[in-house]
Amino acid sequence: MREVKIAPSILSADLRCLAREVEAVARAGADWIHVDVMDGHFVPNLTFGMPIVAALRRITSLPLDVHLMIEAPERYLEAFAQAGADRLIVHVEACPHLHRVIQGIRRLGLRAGVALNPATPLSALEEILPDVDQVLIMTVNPGFGGQAFIERMREKVRRARRMIDALDRPIELEVDGGVGPENASDLVEAGATVLVAGASIFEAPEGAEAALRRLRQAVENARIPRFP
Ligand code: DX5
Ligand code: ZN
Repeated sequence: MREVKIAPSILSADLRCLAREVEAVARAGADWIHVDVMDGHFVPNLTFGMPIVAALRRITSLPLDVHLMIEAPERYLEAFAQAGADRLIVHVEACPHLHRVIQGIRRLGLRAGVALNPATPLSALEEILPDVDQVLIMTVNPGFGGQAFIERMREKVRRARRMIDALDRPIELEVDGGVGPENASDLVEAGATVLVAGASIFEAPEGAEAALRRLRQAVENARIPRFP
């Protein structure tokens, strides 16, 4: 069976007590911590940089899944590696020399991922897929937490799963944006192996721990197909 990971996005955490928020989701069984880096150019919002990644590195031993929504990410790969990132995800839309950027991430000893905006076709992955550890399908337009899931993306996830299965490599398929207990099992059935969730965990009225457990339950209810 495919193992499904849950990656809470700290974009929606209460930053006054980041350590407590991260410890709560870790206790509830979070697999990775997702960090949304935004530069105000590639996306219309500004968020975190290396110091927050370094702080998280001191808070937790969970893998830090760093999503770079920035232009020319090659300028900062080494700095994020030094700060303690485990996985670096770059957007295909931000990298004219994507192959070079992916090689750069791997040379630093990190896992390399590529992200696709909702309007970017999967064909953009064709030549790079054999070189990546992870594909991130944006299921909202990047820039903000708490947006509604774009329903059509479920079919895109299904097609991405087929592309990955056609290669004999363990590539994670991550979905990011508007993910919660109501659509988690569908996404897992479509082929996702990593669910990023911000608002549905950190803004849940029942609290982050209970929300994460509910999300896990939804994942476990999915009928996960076996690898061919
Ligand atoms: C959006 C970010 C997401 C965001 C998801 O641009 O990439 O990781 O935190 O937040 P939710 O789960 O609230 O849609
Ligand atoms: Zn993200």
